[in-house]
Amino acid sequence: MRTALLIGIGAGDPKQVTVQAIEAMRTVDVFFVLDKGATVGTLTGIRQEILDRYVGPGVRLVLVPDPPRDRSSADYTAAVDDWHSRRAAALAAAISREVPDGGVAGFLVWGDPSLYDSTLRVVERVSDSMPLTATVIPGITSVQALTAAHAILLNRVGEPIHITTGRRLAEDDGRNTVVMLDADCTFRETARPNDLIYWGAYLGTPHQILIAGTVGEVGGKIAESRAAARAEHGWIMDVYLLRRPVTPPRRPAPP
Ligand SMILES: C[S@@+](CC[C@H](N)C(=O)[O-])C[C@H]1O[C@@H](n2cnc3c(N)ncnc32)[C@H](O)[C@@H]1O
Repeated sequence: MRTALLIGIGAGDPKQVTVQAIEAMRTVDVFFVLDKGATVGTLTGIRQEILDRYVGPGVRLVLVPDPPRDRSSADYTAAVDDWHSRRAAALAAAISREVPDGGVAGFLVWGDPSLYDSTLRVVERVSDSMPLTATVIPGITSVQALTAAHAILLNRVGEPIHITTGRRLAEDDGRNTVVMLDADCTFRETARPNDLIYWGAYLGTPHQILIAGTVGEVGGKIAESRAAARAEHGWIMDVYLLRRPVTPPRRPAPP
C-alpha cells in the first residue's frame, strides 16, 4: 500500500505554507506535479522554491506530462471525466514506477485541495487501479488570500456566500459571490454599476494587483489591468468578490 499525500501550499506566497504542511512534506518520498497550460513554469517554480526552503536538497520532483483536455466537446462534464481518467492513468504509471511499496507520493496542491482542484479526484481514480490511500493537508485558499489582501470579511452579517466560476456567474444572484477561473471578466455582463467588486490578481506573489470599488467605477480598469498584466507575464490568476448593496426595506408611505 502506498500513500498519496495532498498538501495545500497556499495561493502563491511561500510564507502561507503551514507548519503542518512542512512536516508532511518532509515525509514524502517523491513529489509529483500534474500541471497544465502557460502557468506551468511559474507555478512549478513556486513549488520548487517551497521545497528548497522547507525540505532542502535531495527532494525528488517528477513532472507528469498532463494529457490535453478535449475542449471541442459540447459535453463539458464528459470531456472533464475523460481527461481525469487519462490523468489518473499517467499518474498511476508514474507512482508505481517511482514510489516503492509502503512509500509516500506527495502533491503540492495550489491553495487548498478542496477548492476547484482535481488532484483529489484524480488520486481517487488512481486508487481504483492500485492500493493507495489519500491524506489531505489543508492550505490557505485564494479566497482567503483575497479577503485578507483587501482586509474585508467574506460574508455580511448572517448572509450566505456563494463561490462560483466565471462560466456560471450568469446563474448567480450576485449578492455575495466569489468568482474564480474567470478569463473573461464576466462581471461586466452580469453585475450592476453600483455593485461592489474586490478584485485580486497574483495574490501573495510579488506581482500582486488589488483593485476595489463599484463595478461602474473600476470595472473597466480591472479589465485593462488584467489584459496588460497577462500580456506582460504571459499568464494570470485572478479572483474577485461581488457584493450587491443592501437596499433598505421600503417604509410604508405616511397616511
Ligand atoms: C484551479 S483553481 C485553484 C484554486 C485553489 N485550489 C485555491 O484554493 O484557491 C485556480 C483559480 O484560483 C484562483 N487563484 C488561485 N491562486 C490565485 C492567486 N494567487 N491570485 C489570484 N487568484 C488565484 C483563480 O481564480 C484561478 O483561476
